[in-house]
Amino acid sequence: MNNKIIIINGPNLNLLGEREQSQYGSVTLKELKEICAKKSNELGLKIEFAQSNIEGELVNIIQESRKKFDGIIINAAAFTHTSVAIRDALDVFKKPIIELHISNIYKREDFRHKSLISDIATGGIFGLGVDGYILAINSMQKLLQNGN
Ligand code: DQA
Repeated sequence: MNNKIIIINGPNLNLLGEREQSQYGSVTLKELKEICAKKSNELGLKIEFAQSNIEGELVNIIQESRKKFDGIIINAAAFTHTSVAIRDALDVFKKPIIELHISNIYKREDFRHKSLISDIATGGIFGLGVDGYILAINSMQKLLQNGN
């Protein structure tokens, strides 16, 4: 049976392509979803793509993922730096988690240098633009293939 993964995007990522193009590039969230679907399809992964600006909604999505998905790729956006609730929800998901950031959070303001997610994630990707999503899907496929 095909592995199923979810890509979860946090606040303001619905504005990709419009907001701070110098940090995030010109690809829109809709285009990114299509790119991710194509890549997942090539690798034989089933994929769901989610975005919310609301912390509690993201917590609900993560909680529901326990029963529905084999892996989570998450760009928690600004909540990465603030949300104990999202961290705690991810901590209950006992399967692979990849933390993702489009920009290099360590090259930016100090408040972005702290991630509440990194130490409970399986691994992470940052600073490689939206290509990071492709890399994350590739890595997730390998993790799941190797029985992680
Ligand atoms: C981000 C980095 C965060 O600091 C920021 O709040 C975002 C996007 C990224 O993908 O680079 O919204 O997660």
